Amino acid sequence: MNEEWVDLGPLEDFPEGAVREAMHGSKRLAVSRRNGRVGVLEGTCNHVGGPLGQGRLDGEYVVCPSHYWKFHHATGVGEPGSEEDRVPSYAVRVDDDRVRIRPEPATLRARKPHAPHPLARTPVRGDGPIRVLGLSTTAMTPGNPRYSTSEDLLTHALAAAATEQACEAQFIRVRDLRIRACEGYYSKSARACTWPCSITQMDRSDEMAGIYEAVVHWADVILVATPIRWGAASSLYFKMVERMNCIQNQETIADRHLLKNKVAGFIITGGQDNVQAVAGQLLGFFAEVGCQFPQFPYVAHSRGWSAEDMEQNELAVQKSTALHDGAAALAARCAAMARVMVSSSLGEGALVGGGRKAHPTA
Ligand code: FES
Repeated sequence: MNEEWVDLGPLEDFPEGAVREAMHGSKRLAVSRRNGRVGVLEGTCNHVGGPLGQGRLDGEYVVCPSHYWKFHHATGVGEPGSEEDRVPSYAVRVDDDRVRIRPEPATLRARKPHAPHPLARTPVRGDGPIRVLGLSTTAMTPGNPRYSTSEDLLTHALAAAATEQACEAQFIRVRDLRIRACEGYYSKSARACTWPCSITQMDRSDEMAGIYEAVVHWADVILVATPIRWGAASSLYFKMVERMNCIQNQETIADRHLLKNKVAGFIITGGQDNVQAVAGQLLGFFAEVGCQFPQFPYVAHSRGWSAEDMEQNELAVQKSTALHDGAAALAARCAAMARVMVSSSLGEGALVGGGRKAHPTA
């Protein structure tokens, strides 16, 4: 009799209320016990292959640890509303305090058709003038605007791009968007970091989609403005670019270049030092997501270490023709570079992987 059943191990290895991973040949299984009933599912999630056996139980459902899809712990049927999604389940018996399954699944995998997210379309640059996107990453209380040196210069740069360079301009104040923090899906598994971001796909109230749409599908030029906070870019800047990890991960896990022929430039201002370190961070990140830079890719201003007269700092920037001219000239350099990129075949060739992130050296 036991020849027709595969022994997965002693019952005590599969405690009540828990999900455990077990192997059946080369197949990963998700074994769970709820109210004394042992359920065994194939352990690969329908979504992007998350390890169900490393998940947890939520009522009668196994929750995938990657992005929380749920499957009934004994039947493999998706949670209510997603019943068309199923993972294979096995017939189970427990005798002699051993858990055994039939060698072949009792039910098969089925996938509910999921319409691709609108952002998942292939980026194609449509005809038209150079498009300049401004991303302001300074924080403010809604309804209580204040003067921001970095945002002032970015506003001026965008206006100059529109009026002097005949560009289309779009301004996004990152603080106006409700953006959830990156939860590090990449840390669970590189493939758990998806494009578009898993959070964007799961949570329609998350507004990072607006930035993805503008950065990936619209802009030729991305101008980022940030204050200096404790010697680094602003917390909103980091919140934004952490969510942009998924763009970079497409390079490494799918050899997919979402940003092509894009130019980035930066405006960095603060009452504190560290312009060069902030610029280094911005340059490093936007280089790794595939952007190009014009000659002298940032303009900056800092009051320095010895002054606390921030009112004077604001006035100095407000009145500074040099800084405003410099911001406009940065936009012009970026637009000129973008014209070259858009009209040339630069970047059309295959990108050699050696030495780039996550590419093996052998
Ligand atoms: S929910 Fe399972 S891999 Fe995404």
